Amino acid sequence: MAKKPKTPIKPATTLVTAGRDTQGQHGFVNPAVYHASTVLYPTAEDQVAHRSRYQYGRRGTPTSEALEGALKELEGEQCAGVALLPSGLAAISTALLSVAGSGDHILVTDSVYRPTRVFCDGLFKRLGVTTTYYEPLIGKDIAKLLQPNTKAVFVEAPGSQSFEMQDIPAIAEVAHAKGAVVLTDNTWATPLYFRALEKGVDLSIQAGTKYIGGHSDVMIGCVAANAARYTALKATMNTLGLCVGPDDMYLALRGLRTMGVRLARHFESGVRVARWLEQRPEVARVLHPGLPGDPGHAIWKRDFTGACGLFSIVLKPAPEKAVHAFMDALSLFGMGFSWGGFESLVILFDCSEYRTATKWAPGGPTLRFHIGLEDVDDLIADLERGFAAMSA
Ligand SMILES: Cc1ncc(COP(=O)(O)O)c(C=O)c1O
Repeated sequence: MAKKPKTPIKPATTLVTAGRDTQGQHGFVNPAVYHASTVLYPTAEDQVAHRSRYQYGRRGTPTSEALEGALKELEGEQCAGVALLPSGLAAISTALLSVAGSGDHILVTDSVYRPTRVFCDGLFKRLGVTTTYYEPLIGKDIAKLLQPNTKAVFVEAPGSQSFEMQDIPAIAEVAHAKGAVVLTDNTWATPLYFRALEKGVDLSIQAGTKYIGGHSDVMIGCVAANAARYTALKATMNTLGLCVGPDDMYLALRGLRTMGVRLARHFESGVRVARWLEQRPEVARVLHPGLPGDPGHAIWKRDFTGACGLFSIVLKPAPEKAVHAFMDALSLFGMGFSWGGFESLVILFDCSEYRTATKWAPGGPTLRFHIGLEDVDDLIADLERGFAAMSA
């Protein structure tokens, strides 16, 4: 093992030290990448008894253990273990499948990542699980929606397009009193900025595709579980035969080492651009819980220690052509969906197409930005060019 410091360490240090086994790697800093399926046993007796450190490539290798171990340490003491899945969406569906089945009911925030909704309304429904979507700001009133067969409450804060915050500790308290499991999609904050398991969440999911990978070159997901949920989570994953390719696990582990510095920069630059956008005459509202004027700011300040680079804006009413002109004039903002990489992004979105528990009527076109690691002055200059094209 890498030498452990004697005093408690901070998350930035954990990112560097966690999951490392220098001696086991012949002194090298990073682990080997095991491309592996079968495991050979030295004797017939060992084979019959399944006696070996590893059983089968799908069920774990030194590479998967290094990443799982690092993520577990990062999640903190309440984490009993981490499951690695081939995408963020696979992490969401596996976590949900580990808590509910035929005849059960679940509660899901109306602000949830849309493909989570597609899973609940499609496959989960076919399996006999019913879903009720709830108003994201519901807080303790979630009690009114809990039924005797409610097995899970899914929260996500902030919503990754609409950016409502949720009172997760309050929701968790009520859910637990009725025996329901609490799951969250913690991709936006990561455990660096929201300690989900310490705030009452049982299963905390991340699309590692975003900030863990950090370079837009890997698809991976993970679920961190507390002791009550870890066995069922692992069993579900193993039954489904899910595992991650070794190179993707390695890229995720490499990304994790620099996630702290990258996130700090995304946070700082994101707030700067958001503040600049607040002053623009074309912008009606900026949806960023880290800004003092945001309706979710008080909860963000109480429960979170930072923000990533993802937020949205509502433009004052403008013709579609003008909004497209704005986007097309940008040269530093790519138009793409998967955020969390080093590069800046913009998309036009509309939540009104799918929300059911709450009405989404922002009053103007809505754009989501991901603020990357470029120089923030260059990004602002690029946005200025966009606004000039919009008014032309
Ligand atoms: C909030 C959120 N959760 C989950 C996912 C799914 O991650 P993946 O693309 O790795 O399946 C995404 C992807 O955009 C996301 O934005």
